Amino acid sequence: MEKIEVIFKKEEIQKKIKELGALISKDYGDEEIVLVCNLKGAFIFLADLCRYITSPTSIDFIATTSYKGTETTGDVRIIKDLKMDVKGKHLLLVEDIVDTGFTLDYTVKYLWLHKPKSIRICTLLDKRCKRKVELDLDYIGFEIEDRFVVGYGLDYNERYRELDYIGELIL
Ligand code: IMP
Ligand code: MG
Repeated sequence: MEKIEVIFKKEEIQKKIKELGALISKDYGDEEIVLVCNLKGAFIFLADLCRYITSPTSIDFIATTSYKGTETTGDVRIIKDLKMDVKGKHLLLVEDIVDTGFTLDYTVKYLWLHKPKSIRICTLLDKRCKRKVELDLDYIGFEIEDRFVVGYGLDYNERYRELDYIGELIL
């Protein structure tokens, strides 16, 4: 039977996102930010984060795929591109989790093709111990160990995204 052990409670997550929002607002000031949400995992994080940012923002979505079950395939593909023209704009890529880094590395390189003015990365979770590609992350919520987590947008075969906490999936 699948079981979920709580790692970050709802209140802890909200407190962290509020802090991230304040940091981002301080860094960008009155400059407009295009928040690029990497679907599907980051949709709940984006929804909360955008409400804690006081700088002017607009929102767009991109979708990538590489995971099957609890393993990365390394073969990253863009399955949905941006709708906005982001040429000359400041992009803040909003991610649920960075694991090997393959997805993010590919996504950032792809986003540069749209000729933005800048790209920064904000991830809720960082599984640094699993990293295979070196990446500079600008805003990080929590660093976690090598555990497979679900909830708050993160899924296991499309399940558990709706949980308001983050927990380890015990199979
Ligand atoms: P990477 O390419 O290995 O960095 O994988 C990043 C993507 O894999 C994330 O955007 C998630 O969709 C997924 N992923 C990685 N680790 C987990 C996890 O612990 N739970 C759920 N999804 C994960
Ligand atoms: Mg993802």
